[in-house]
Amino acid sequence: MTTTHKMDSRELGLVLGKQLLGVEDLHYGLWEADLTPSLANLPQAQQRYTEHLAAALPALNDEVRVLDVGCGTGHILQQLTERGYRVDGVIPSPSLARMVHARLTELPDNQARVFETTFEGMPVAEVEGRYDAILFSESFQYIDLNTVLGHCARLLKPRGRVVICDFFKTPAAGDGQPGDGVIGGGHHLSDFRAALAAAPFDVLRDEDITALVAPNMDIVDDLLMHKLKPSGEAIWEYLRGSYPFTARLLGFFLRKKLPKVKKKYFSGLRTGATFARYKNYRLVVLTKRDAG
Ligand SMILES: C[S@@+](CC[C@H](N)C(=O)[O-])C[C@H]1O[C@@H](n2cnc3c(N)ncnc32)[C@H](O)[C@@H]1O
Repeated sequence: MTTTHKMDSRELGLVLGKQLLGVEDLHYGLWEADLTPSLANLPQAQQRYTEHLAAALPALNDEVRVLDVGCGTGHILQQLTERGYRVDGVIPSPSLARMVHARLTELPDNQARVFETTFEGMPVAEVEGRYDAILFSESFQYIDLNTVLGHCARLLKPRGRVVICDFFKTPAAGDGQPGDGVIGGGHHLSDFRAALAAAPFDVLRDEDITALVAPNMDIVDDLLMHKLKPSGEAIWEYLRGSYPFTARLLGFFLRKKLPKVKKKYFSGLRTGATFARYKNYRLVVLTKRDAG
């Protein structure tokens, strides 16, 4: 049985972003010093992020089994498979699952299993102790903190590894300052640390990469403020002039949603500086503690 979930506005944003920007990945880019933050360089920055993640996985030997949780379009799954990892995916979104399957059919000798469910809904007993590594590439924030590490412990082999690359809320979240609440998502870092302290894992690596991913926000803000906003205003102007009744009706139906959308996306506050204040982006690598 599969457990799917309703696409929320953040996921819709990701899928639209992918379509608009024509990128393969749904994660941020890693903007190292030699790479100028720009839309044109986004695929390259995203690939650097992927390489950073891949380097945190166990080294390839005869067989390294990886579970890519929240595998998005399947791009990372595909690349790791091509490098010799045995990768399965977890994807609750039907539209993304279709993209993953389309990629997999192009892989020779594809043996990947795709769990079309949330991670919380995984058939854990069926695949207990199967994986050498579990990967969360910007998907950890979506998963229930009370469930996630327990599931990982059961799914991993002894000394298996969890690789999390994602952002968390900083203590500034909720401070009511301009920019607060403009960028959604992320568990509170303190909640994550508390969950980790109670789980059977040792921390192998814990790296703050906020400064390297924050420029992503400036690029998206530039796109929103200087391309999408003027286009939206032009369309609205046209509607008001040519179809005043439709425009009034639309205004009425959107009167509650519109101010929220304006604040979140078109306030000019969705920037790298806001991100760095309210979010902390980390690469965290854990190993499962020996039972004995
Ligand atoms: C920001 S995207 C990252 C996608 C991909 N890992 C990447 O790096 O490009 C977040 C992903 O998490 C998935 N997701 C959301 N809720 C989830 C859940 N409860 N369990 C597993 N995956 C989930 C979404 O479907 C989406 O594919």
